[in-house]
Amino acid sequence: MAFDNLLLERDGAIAIVTINRPKVLNALNSQTLDELRRAALDLKQDASARAIVITGAGDKSFVAGADINELAVQTPTGGREHALTGQHVFDLIENLGKPVIAAINGYALGGGCELAMACTLRIAADSAKLGQPEIGLGIIPGYAGTQRLPRIVGKGRAMEIILTGTPITAADAERIGLVNRVVPAAELMTEARKLAAALAAQPPVAVRYIINAINKGMEMPFAEAQVFEATLFGLIAATDDMREGTSAFLDKRKPEFQGR
Ligand code: COA
Repeated sequence: MAFDNLLLERDGAIAIVTINRPKVLNALNSQTLDELRRAALDLKQDASARAIVITGAGDKSFVAGADINELAVQTPTGGREHALTGQHVFDLIENLGKPVIAAINGYALGGGCELAMACTLRIAADSAKLGQPEIGLGIIPGYAGTQRLPRIVGKGRAMEIILTGTPITAADAERIGLVNRVVPAAELMTEARKLAAALAAQPPVAVRYIINAINKGMEMPFAEAQVFEATLFGLIAATDDMREGTSAFLDKRKPEFQGR
């Protein structure tokens, strides 16, 4: 698959997607967003890709937001469509059914922070800055930042980050749970690959059901979410991996999951 603004690399079961517009700090224009959509769909179908890492080209920026050149000329109806499109792409990433790790190598602002929040897990370089600076442009977040941020860090902190527009440090992002872990910048990709490899070795049907149970369950009333969890719990009994995992434990050996 050919892309102008993404680099795609495979390392066994791990796929690494690099957003590659370093001259504009990897800002997401419409074309890049569409390339992300196509790459996500492709990786979703590809059973040999078990975990994905998304990062930004260069050492300064993950993604410095939506492309402000496009925002500056948007119309009301065009703006609505633009936001819906971005939300759709990020929903796809959130619900890919396999772990997507954001390796935040610098600025994750606006759409960059929203992209990172749509990922399953976030690892940040100690030099990274995260925020939703849209208010400074006279606009509001449009790729679900007003929805995912309070779900991740709580309403009060989300209000503060979005209303002030002031980016926070990686250390503060870790403290409030916006990123899972902070590592020295030079070790970011090694750590991201290590985590991706560990997750890629997990039984994939269980991985898919866990992501589904958490993502969909959090949007349901608690009692219904529990029934949904129980249904997936029952379905997993149809997998060879369940038989392998449980018998390996009882036989006191390491399980060898086949992904079935
Ligand atoms: N859209 C389009 N272009 C962008 C961009 C964006 N979101 N973010 C950065 N760029 C461009 C700059 O215009 C500049 O282009 P130029 O070299 O042609 O002048 C280039 O990337 C480098 O950015 P610059 O601002 O010179 O780097 P900096 O180190 O001084 O500042 C930031 C870095 C991230 C603080 C600053 O670029 C910034 O505030 N970007 C916008 C962040 C934002 O508001 N995002 C939300 C958008 S909804």
